[in-house]
Amino acid sequence: MSKKVSRRTFAKVAGAAALASAADPSALGSAKTRGSSDTTAPGVAAQGAGPRSFPPGFIWGTATASYQVEGAVKEDGRGPSIWDTFSHTPGKIVDNATGDVADDHYHRYKGDVQLMKALGVKAYRFSVAWPRVFPDGDGPPNPKGLDFYNRLVDELLANDIRPFATLYHWDLPQSLQDRFGGWEGRDTSKAFADYAGYVAARLTDRVKHIFTINEFGAFVEVGYRWGVHAPGLRLTGLRLNQTRHHAVLGHGLAVRAIRASARPGTRVGLAENITIAAPVYETAAHVAAAERATREMNAQYLTVIQEGKYTDWYLKSAGADAPKFTDEDLKAISSPLDFVGINVYTPQFVRADESSPVGFSVVPHPKSFPHAPSPWLFIGPEALYWGPRHVSKLWGAKEIYITENGCSSSDEPAPDGKVYDTDRVTYLRSYLTQLQRATAEGVPVRGYFLWSLMDNFEWADGYTNRFGLHYVDYKTQTRTPKLSADFYREVIARNAVV
Ligand code: FCB
Repeated sequence: MSKKVSRRTFAKVAGAAALASAADPSALGSAKTRGSSDTTAPGVAAQGAGPRSFPPGFIWGTATASYQVEGAVKEDGRGPSIWDTFSHTPGKIVDNATGDVADDHYHRYKGDVQLMKALGVKAYRFSVAWPRVFPDGDGPPNPKGLDFYNRLVDELLANDIRPFATLYHWDLPQSLQDRFGGWEGRDTSKAFADYAGYVAARLTDRVKHIFTINEFGAFVEVGYRWGVHAPGLRLTGLRLNQTRHHAVLGHGLAVRAIRASARPGTRVGLAENITIAAPVYETAAHVAAAERATREMNAQYLTVIQEGKYTDWYLKSAGADAPKFTDEDLKAISSPLDFVGINVYTPQFVRADESSPVGFSVVPHPKSFPHAPSPWLFIGPEALYWGPRHVSKLWGAKEIYITENGCSSSDEPAPDGKVYDTDRVTYLRSYLTQLQRATAEGVPVRGYFLWSLMDNFEWADGYTNRFGLHYVDYKTQTRTPKLSADFYREVIARNAVV
């Protein structure tokens, strides 16, 4: 896959594309005050009184994921993952980069926790690497692997930062890919539940929020359909739909396993890159179309998890290729959650369309639509309003987290050594303004995790697209706060957009 056509070109339209793949694409259209912070007294904003304030107690956090930051891929008994195999296959990653060293976070986590502390974040979302804990995915556990997360969690708590742990952020043990075809096989869903229960039993004395899976709509579509991510497959038809089904089934079985083994008070959810339909403009008809579209475009993932059934339109469109499932599967998949996490980067615009059988049409981004250096990352701040609003309205979610939001930037150090990423600051300010609009209207968003604490291995883009609040010099592993880190520190201190 060429460098220009990043996996994200696909990932972020996964829902729309998935739907269109099963249906006739043409049926959907062509698918696919302030208050100047200088005058707002920090104390006033922090109490939630300012016009751009967030609710009191709002949880500000930052996020990373194991394979993107840890390195130490052969240390302390970690088994190989599909990302080791994929990144070591020439031509798959820009510059043939790998996560072998990444940010060396495995050894530098204490310093990284100090970066978080300096930002003032109250929470950190990290992921547990399954192949550290079960080197073969199942079978004998590797206690040394879990020890790393014990050390990390203790360090976070010692610094008053709440740990939020994700159990699957794409580094599937290679052995499960070899034996079961990875998520193509139902046995992987079961192995995931066993691993989830094992980790929950050991971490939930200190970790109170657990996410099962990160971005169904990315790892399945980009890894198993488009071949741009590990494991690099190009499935179609029934095989693809069955893989999607096993992903949500794995989530549901894991929720049950976590509930069975976790300490009381543990809260369980997921982190999905929901396809967010934004109305082309805000009239009742377009808003209603956007709600319908969000439900249909997420049919294989968040919709079935929330509703316990696949939508009629999805099943009808898939026809003979519809996934095979039982009622018991659907019960597991829709196991009640304590919260819904959504990763929000970009909107998919839709309009009301009475001529369409689903009542809406997708409006593709024109070529001139502004985007970040990552070509998939179209800049549409309203995604951070509509995403949580749809989740609350469509499914009655009572506790929502923005589990990722952020942007890539070209990020070059200035002569004084600082990175003046005004583009990222502008992006964040615009998006947070929309999130503040949502919370001010009562949408129950409880926290926000900025992606990412520091530059890291950005999957098929290697180290070319930087998303961090801290600039990482990969030769020396030096971390330098960017202008956006200063901005975020102010936002957190004032609990308001600045
Ligand atoms: C999300 C992924 C995360 C990171 C950001 C930029 O889709 O979950 O790992 O790559 O995008």
